[in-house]
Amino acid sequence: MTYSIAFAGKGGTGKTTVCGLILDHLVKSGKGPILAVDADANANLNEVLGLERPLTLGDIREEIARSELEAKNPIPPGMSKQEYAQFRFNSALVEEADFDMLVMGKTQGKGCYCFVNDILRELLERYHQNYKYLVVDNEAGLEHISRGILPPVDLILLVSDCSRRGIQAAGRIAAMIKDLKLPVREVHLIVNRAPEGALDGGIQTEIEAQGLSLIGVLPQDEAVYRYDAAGKALVTLPPETPVRKALSLVIEKLKL
Ligand SMILES: Nc1ncnc2c1ncn2[C@@H]1O[C@H](COP(=O)(O)OP(=O)(O)O)[C@@H](O)[C@H]1O
Ligand SMILES: [Mg+2]
Repeated sequence: MTYSIAFAGKGGTGKTTVCGLILDHLVKSGKGPILAVDADANANLNEVLGLERPLTLGDIREEIARSELEAKNPIPPGMSKQEYAQFRFNSALVEEADFDMLVMGKTQGKGCYCFVNDILRELLERYHQNYKYLVVDNEAGLEHISRGILPPVDLILLVSDCSRRGIQAAGRIAAMIKDLKLPVREVHLIVNRAPEGALDGGIQTEIEAQGLSLIGVLPQDEAVYRYDAAGKALVTLPPETPVRKALSLVIEKLKL
């Protein structure tokens, strides 16, 4: 059985950062094999992990869309568009020593690309069985889950900054998960970038008003800022950095 974790929340709240650090925890504690999926159109999980920008499914989609207009069609004669897409998509799987990664990129472009989404859905259905963990970094919305592109999700971690509006945005996502009856088992909130790692009482009240389950508070961390500014992969942050220490409590609570 694959245990799947997806991240959601307003842009800039730290989804990719937390996703990368949790992935790093799973890798270092030997919980593999793991498949990381970067489902954000503006893909950057690779940067947190210190990997080159990989070929994305969106790139392949573009390539296939273009192929129909170009004189020199890359699709070999006798191969259908679907078969070619499938073949190219298989080559988009990044295989690292400790985990694999699939990067969606811009999969929602002009025109109808339903067949690409279908292939993507199939691909994930087929691949995810091979992994113990599926870790998905999302963009703000949950399109990939609501469209049924991702397999059912065991755990959604909503990431918010420590603003009232951030918490309200997380609350709206949680409500949407319920309203749409999305296939999700557990939803918890992580508040990130809290000054001194502590929550203001007003924010705590808002979390309760939104009916959210708070699983942890991560501090605003100078080291994250420095690493980001220097272009250093955040997975190389030492274990004693405040954000890592706070996250390890969350990981413990979640039994990951
Ligand atoms: N705990 C933290 N302390 C300091 N900076 C942080 C922290 N968490 C995230 N950041 C920074 O905030 C910015 C947005 O984070 P990111 O993970 O890309 O957010 P999202 O994926 O939700 O858009 C990045 O520059 C990141 O380095
Ligand atoms: Mg992100």
